Amino acid sequence: MTVNSESHAIESILHESRLFPPTPEFAAAAHVSGEAELDRLRAEAEADPEAFWADKAAHLHWFKPWDRVLDWNPPFAKWFDGGKINVSYNCLDRHLGSWRRNKAAIIWEGEPGDTRTLTYQQLHREVCLFANVLKKFDVKVGDRVAIYMPMTPEIAIAMLACARIGATHSVIFGGFSAEALRDRINDAGCKLVVTADGAWRRGTEVKLKAAVDDALTQTPSVTTCIVVNRTGSQIHMQPGRDHWWHEMMETVNDDCPASELDSEHPLFILYTSGTTGKPKGILHTTGGYLTQAALTTKWVFDMKDEDVYWCTADVGWVTGHSYVVYGPLANGATVLMYEGAPNFPEPDRFWQIIDKYKVTIFYTAPTAIRAFIRWGERWVLKHDLRSLRLLGTVGEPINPEAWMWYHQVIGKGRCPIVDTWWQTETGGIMISPLPGATPTKPGTATKPLPGIDIDIQTRDGRSVGVNEGGYLVIKRPWPGMLRTIWGDDERFRKQYWDEIEGVYFAGDGARRDELGYHWIMGRVDDVINVSGHRLGTAEIESALVSHEAVAEAAVVGRPDEMKGSAIVAFVSLEGSRTGNDELKAALREHVAKEIGALAKPDDIRFSDALPKTRSGKIMRRLLREIAASGVVMGDVSTLEDFSVLEKLRTDEE
Ligand code: WTA
Repeated sequence: MTVNSESHAIESILHESRLFPPTPEFAAAAHVSGEAELDRLRAEAEADPEAFWADKAAHLHWFKPWDRVLDWNPPFAKWFDGGKINVSYNCLDRHLGSWRRNKAAIIWEGEPGDTRTLTYQQLHREVCLFANVLKKFDVKVGDRVAIYMPMTPEIAIAMLACARIGATHSVIFGGFSAEALRDRINDAGCKLVVTADGAWRRGTEVKLKAAVDDALTQTPSVTTCIVVNRTGSQIHMQPGRDHWWHEMMETVNDDCPASELDSEHPLFILYTSGTTGKPKGILHTTGGYLTQAALTTKWVFDMKDEDVYWCTADVGWVTGHSYVVYGPLANGATVLMYEGAPNFPEPDRFWQIIDKYKVTIFYTAPTAIRAFIRWGERWVLKHDLRSLRLLGTVGEPINPEAWMWYHQVIGKGRCPIVDTWWQTETGGIMISPLPGATPTKPGTATKPLPGIDIDIQTRDGRSVGVNEGGYLVIKRPWPGMLRTIWGDDERFRKQYWDEIEGVYFAGDGARRDELGYHWIMGRVDDVINVSGHRLGTAEIESALVSHEAVAEAAVVGRPDEMKGSAIVAFVSLEGSRTGNDELKAALREHVAKEIGALAKPDDIRFSDALPKTRSGKIMRRLLREIAASGVVMGDVSTLEDFSVLEKLRTDEE
């Protein structure tokens, strides 16, 4: 793919003609069976989108029905306004009146091999207890709670407990640093933090509580910290502020009816990277979000009561929110959860887990698939994967070669693959095959789901033709959509709604082929997708510049076979400082400390100056070209100082 930011033309060079229709057996048993039925659902949704979504929302439990399906005051939407609902009730209590009360809700395996299973009844009890712990510390409706935890059942319990009493949770991925945690806690003004002593990752302990201690020195809003005992390592407990989870759970009873909350009550904030240095707190609310999470879980994963479903995403990302916790539990599904790394103790851990628990649905990221390919088929072949019936991917475009490997080596040619396109902002899956209906093609997420109105447009809002590249936009509000950026309605409007008039701008380039299938071509803004994690280049730049040796920095992505994108940083130094390997290492560590290890530059290049326009804007396009191929092909007429380019090029040789 090439993106030319001047003409805004996007060209695609990928052509793929292999087509994989669902088998008749899969289609016959699926919730949505055959293309004709899917087309009928699309037409129905198209004819009356509000009636379509109202029908889907009605599958949830409402304490009080809504007055209005959609109140659309662009760009602000209210879904099912006037309705009263509770997410925790829908994920738990609703199943207790049926045989599902003794069905496994969460089957968990820790990295060291310890296991736990919680039935719906047991999970409900834990959630009620923890909700009462939150209340004991004066957490009230609308208060924000930060969750910085390992992948243990307690992370789901903490989220569901917040949802139960109407506290808004903000889960911060355990790989973020103390500084990143502090900023996110302060942005949302969290009152309480839930964490653990540590997490297990590749056999070593990730020290979560130590990072929390660091962060909490500068978070005036936090009064309480609840700590799960996971690793048993020595930690500091600050009297009056810090309390052990297991001790607090013994001080409360398990009677905690779910609060009847407004449909638009804020369910969670989840921070994601944008084009400026400051992370965006994406706000999701209750009724609409759950409607879409629940429906897409049922349709896209063809979720059945017999399934053992495993989404490998960390709960710290949106995929974990919607497709580890809320969507599956709302469907009464059995969710497998695993704490650790895919290659611990050996590169067959995932296949061993699938075999051991007879996983039927497996949802992971292309970056993981590429790692499995590199580790080799022999690790897969050691295990019996016959239980699998459906595979999924998310997070970045999957290259057709990786798709074929997934299909053949993991799915043994039997399992449909759902390539699901969506974003933190969309709340739920937007473009995806339905496994019993859509003939799939390696590399494409195929078509929008019923009720989702997607187009590919030019900057000036013209729909592009077949196989012509453009910007992916969403034309109609959808129930799971973000409601705003926490505390910043103006940024919400500017970022997503002012770019192209009248539509939501997703920040991705795409094209549509002759079948109407959507090919996502990656980000077109200053966000890079590293191993399926979105990172804002501006955020990494400001981390670099905060180091005393750095005068200026520009960060770009370089296509990388394994990670999707690698991070390349161009750095100019203060005064007479000179760059060397030692400083490179120090800068990498500095970024890890400021943001987290996931943001460490793969490549740092020192330069006296960075290429700028006459108005002083860094020309990232040129840097992208230099990072990718070492040469600049595009137009350089706006460049202020040509010698800079010359230097960057020679530096590289
Ligand atoms: C990318 C993750 C191609 C895309 C759920 C999007 C994808 C960003 C796909 C959102 C896919 C996600 N094919 N690209 N199936 N899924 N993306 O917010 O660039 O972490 O804008 O949400 O990931 O990343 P986020």
